Amino acid sequence: MTKKRVAVLISGRGSNMAALIAAAKADAYPAQIALVLSNRPDAAGLAGARAAGIATAIVDHAAYGKDREAFERAMQAELETRRVELVCLAGFMRLLTPSFVRRWQGRLINIHPALLPAFKGLDTHQRALAAGVRIHGASVHFVVEEMDSGPIIVQGALAVHDDDTAASLAERVLAIEHKIYPAALALLASGRVTIVDGRCRIESTEAAAGYLIAPAI
Ligand code: GRF
Repeated sequence: MTKKRVAVLISGRGSNMAALIAAAKADAYPAQIALVLSNRPDAAGLAGARAAGIATAIVDHAAYGKDREAFERAMQAELETRRVELVCLAGFMRLLTPSFVRRWQGRLINIHPALLPAFKGLDTHQRALAAGVRIHGASVHFVVEEMDSGPIIVQGALAVHDDDTAASLAERVLAIEHKIYPAALALLASGRVTIVDGRCRIESTEAAAGYLIAPAI
């Protein structure tokens, strides 16, 4: 099996990055993490990547001012140097230009801490509580030009408790994120995701886990 070469793009803590690195250690996992790239030199996740022996790169957006194309050209150069085939955004806090998104179309995915299409954007846990939803969760989706709007690959859900706070929800949703992101990348890297009419079709055979995740992983 040739493993797909993956870059994980981060801006901060990097716990999803760590979950992807851990999953990719398995011989049978269809992807390898070839690069961790951060747009912030102080991202805590960089140390974790280095400790795991993963190549890292920093493309500091601040050095490019308002020139988003130049920033993305520098990122693209790093991706090409490492012969990256798939890109995972994992807490990467920069909006990407339409031309970068188009260039990586079908090969660029993101994790969002809500059940899309609900609660796109920031402060998802606070907004889920304010809306009074009883079920909340996380989504891994393809990146398209419109933020948090691409075809959904995997979602994981949990019940909202009456005494939940944004922090308690964040903690429980994060545990789900760490399961669904490696699962979604495995589906993509093994060619089991196709997009039909803007929706993902998934070829998945594994049994369902003890919590609700669709597709069953
Ligand atoms: C996660 O909640 C992810 O869903 C969101 O940003 C957060 C990143 O956390 N996009 P981490 O850096 O992966 O720990």
